[in-house]
Amino acid sequence: MCGIVGYIGFKKASEVLLKGLSYLEYRGYDSSGVALMTKGKIEIFKAPGKLNNLREVLLKEQNICNKSTSGIGHIRWATHGLPTELNAHPHTCNCGSLVVVHNGIIENYKELKNELEKYGCEFKSQTDTEVAAHLIAHEFSKCKDLMAATTNAVKKIQGAYAFCVMHKTMPDKIIVARKNAPLIIGVGEGENFIASDIPAIIEYTKKAIYLNDNQVAEIKKDSIRITDLEGNLLENKVEFLPFEPVALSKMGYKHYMLKEIHEQSDVARNVLQGKLTNSKSEIVLEDVKLTPKELKNIKRIQIIACGTSLHAGLVGKYILEKFAKIPTDVEASSEYIYRDTISDENTLTIGISQSGETADTITAIKQVREKGSHVLIITNRPDSTMARLADSLLPVNAGIEVSVAATKSYMAQLLSLYLLTLYLVQITNPESVKDKEIVSLKQEMLELPNKIEAVTNNTKAIKETAKKYSSFKDFIFIARGINFPTALEGALKLKEISYINATGYSAGELKHGPIAMLDETMPVLAILNKGCVYDKVMSNCEEAKARQAKLIGVTNFIDRKSKDLFDDILTIPDISDTLSPALNIVVLQLLAYYIAEYLGKDVDQPRNLAKSVTVE
Ligand code: G6P
Repeated sequence: MCGIVGYIGFKKASEVLLKGLSYLEYRGYDSSGVALMTKGKIEIFKAPGKLNNLREVLLKEQNICNKSTSGIGHIRWATHGLPTELNAHPHTCNCGSLVVVHNGIIENYKELKNELEKYGCEFKSQTDTEVAAHLIAHEFSKCKDLMAATTNAVKKIQGAYAFCVMHKTMPDKIIVARKNAPLIIGVGEGENFIASDIPAIIEYTKKAIYLNDNQVAEIKKDSIRITDLEGNLLENKVEFLPFEPVALSKMGYKHYMLKEIHEQSDVARNVLQGKLTNSKSEIVLEDVKLTPKELKNIKRIQIIACGTSLHAGLVGKYILEKFAKIPTDVEASSEYIYRDTISDENTLTIGISQSGETADTITAIKQVREKGSHVLIITNRPDSTMARLADSLLPVNAGIEVSVAATKSYMAQLLSLYLLTLYLVQITNPESVKDKEIVSLKQEMLELPNKIEAVTNNTKAIKETAKKYSSFKDFIFIARGINFPTALEGALKLKEISYINATGYSAGELKHGPIAMLDETMPVLAILNKGCVYDKVMSNCEEAKARQAKLIGVTNFIDRKSKDLFDDILTIPDISDTLSPALNIVVLQLLAYYIAEYLGKDVDQPRNLAKSVTVE
């Protein structure tokens, strides 16, 4: 979490930093700050809250801003200490000569702090980062070399970090260092850039160096010098960034989330384009690097992911086991990495991540690679750390997703998993490709974009339901089978953006505990498609109704019985149970959106969340 930006060159640094930070807001938005180098001085400006607050502070400091052509900036997602001005970065040493911005967590900060206090270092904030400022300054006092001081300091730091460091006596350079947190150096002409992510600098340059773990770099306006932690000079590997500057526009929608929900029909078309052309055609997945022989040898699949991506993985389990007949486990990365897990060359590991930067998933991927498993990454960011670690890559092409609550990336992940499953079937059991069910699934996938549009173009009932239920404080979402993950994801969407307590349960589990909570204050939303579990979910709904819970049904089938049972029904176009998660979720995203909007919440940037979670 947190975003960092740095600039050294000839432009107004404050403008480059502010613009860069605005593209990193998805990484956190609870406070921000910049340090601007001026003649013989470093000026620091900070503001709690959204980036606009910092913008306003800087507007009043135009004298200083006009003079500074180098600086570092930070947007924070608090890990240690409240999101106050005091805790906002940059942090400094006692005398303010050295400034640091940091993304990551310094795990041994308490030990380091105790040690540094013995040398007279005084700590003002509650952050772990302030330790780095004092530590680097302490090392600098010994060697008077900022790059060597940073190198010596990071050798003592345990945890994850991307640092930018400036010292007032060395105005011609910024030092950066990285371990387990992303950092890129944008290469310009007579100017250079630093950022946590490409969008922050893409307007200025398309050339960049990806700093690797345990590397330190000295960045001047016309030179870049990279070393390892032993001081050995490394080659500058300049890469071309395959990115166009994106004009981030809401296209007339009130929020990015609403725009992104509406974009899902086109996202579905993009995902399928070139990979599935008609119901009889083969699936083309050029980036899957496993040979047919290796694919046939896969005995087990494990899917590792977090948050919404984890829910996509859970849907993946159903279809992989149903069609590819390969046992599939799905686990949250944060749990996976602290178990003695078993994987080998016959295990295919699928990492799913919108950002490709989620720290827990990256750690899990590194672990399984060591055990010989082939790693296939499904991500929206083919330039990300995870993509760079992958043996095979399945880019999902959802386009930049701005809203913190993931919507269109989930759709793209789901469809990528369907494509991958059909691809595995095609290789491992070519005969079954002609099976009626497979041909009809392909046909339905091709028809899906139009069905998504039918939902997004007809939101009247969803809006009315949202208004009616917006005053409830708790919700239960239930489903069975392949839509159980839809219940989890629908509940997650609601709590993320409206802060209403919503929990997804497998409908069959309702009677084993959660039913105790039911009364007229706890609505139950049931997802039920006509298929093998329909009648079972209906029975569970009856049980909820008998406890006076209000019932909302999300379904493709209405009859007299359901009309009598449900207080409100939200319908989707007809679709098979197998593909229904991709359509049901659109209704739940819209319902969550309109409830949050009705409550006046900050839909795109909900409190306490960040879009990319780069700390474990
Ligand atoms: C954060 C985001 C979620 C996302 C999760 C996993 O919590 O707010 O929307 O699902 O991280 O992120 P990833 O980028 O790995 O999919």
